[in-house]
Amino acid sequence: MKILVTGGAGFIGSNFIRYILLKYPNYHIVNLDKLTYAGNLDNLSDIENHSNYQFFKGDICNFELVNRIVGDGVDAIVHFAAESHVDRSIYDPGIFVKTNVLGTQVLLESALKFKIDKFIQISTDEVYGSLGKEGSSVESSSLLPNSPYSASKASADLLVRSYFETFRLPAIITRCTNNYGPYQFPEKLIPLFITNALQDLSLPIYGDGLYVRDWIYVEDHCKALDTVLHQDKVGEIYNIGGKNEKTNLEITDLILKELNRSKSLVKHVKDRPAHDRRYSLDCSKIGAELGWKPDTPFEEGISKTVNWYVSHQGWWQKIKSGEYLKYYEKHYLQRESS
Ligand code: NAD
Ligand code: TYD
Repeated sequence: MKILVTGGAGFIGSNFIRYILLKYPNYHIVNLDKLTYAGNLDNLSDIENHSNYQFFKGDICNFELVNRIVGDGVDAIVHFAAESHVDRSIYDPGIFVKTNVLGTQVLLESALKFKIDKFIQISTDEVYGSLGKEGSSVESSSLLPNSPYSASKASADLLVRSYFETFRLPAIITRCTNNYGPYQFPEKLIPLFITNALQDLSLPIYGDGLYVRDWIYVEDHCKALDTVLHQDKVGEIYNIGGKNEKTNLEITDLILKELNRSKSLVKHVKDRPAHDRRYSLDCSKIGAELGWKPDTPFEEGISKTVNWYVSHQGWWQKIKSGEYLKYYEKHYLQRESS
């Protein structure tokens, strides 16, 4: 099988490529990535010379380039490429619409043109919007996105649905909860807090810190996508979650405990606008239909993750001392001072 992975130099995409090449040594992977601030070829340095792996630096919005790649025998597209950070979508929504919505439509059009066998749209629980203390979203729940990020992902999901309904493009949408694990860009909660604690910097908790996310170890997400890729159903949506709902304060405590650092590093800062209080997914559909369930208990996953950042300081220090530092200083100084 030849798979086009978009956004394969990012966090989940790079973990997915590694997982697939290891499990299916005969598969071919083509990685199309624009290498934005979040794309990092260091994430794939161990497989860059693999004979079944090919990398193209380019934009998913470039229809000609996408056609050239897809037209060269691609069987399936696993579409990760996106602007993925909620905070950035508040500062600069335009690029989220361009990449996440228009880029997805370019890929759908090309997938149709070359009659590919499967298109997997990697989406998020954030499209369902914020939940109260109880209850979980099912695949048919209303889409109520609150941030430009989640609105752009929901829009892309609707386009994918329309290409299935109208043109019978064999598409599947997966909606996953918050991932954590190796190679996550240190602007997201868990890698930011682990690396800040290692640098003795403060851990900026937005608002009261009682916001709830469900967390899944990235390898479990990759296994779920492997399952979805290798089954026959099309036109379906599958929720994917880790069964680990935690408040941000609970996550912070665990990280500090793992690293043996003091709680005095915690600093409450200005809240995120329209901050979704809780996400929660009912994942019984993927369990009942495809037999997938998450394997990694949170305590085990967080311990592995903390150890990975401790033993890969070069990887994240390069990021944190580069261009990103300017963004971080501007963004967090502003939050702390207001
Ligand atoms: P990431 O930000 O780490 O990586 C995104 C990748 O996409 C980067 O390599 C970037 O260079 C690339 N990219 C961005 N714009 C591009 C463009 N126009 N053309 C080509 N490549 C482009 O993101 P991630 O955390 O790995 O998330 C991957 C996907 O999974 C996203 O679609 C995201 O919405 C979805 N998702 C993420 C999570 C999570 O917790 N991280 C949870 C659910 C769903
Ligand atoms: P994040 O990792 O940005 O993922 P998302 O917003 O997509 O769920 O944030 C996870 C949670 O952590 C969210 O409630 C916002 C909160 N958060 C902080 O409190 N401080 C931070 O510095 C960051 C990045 C996030």
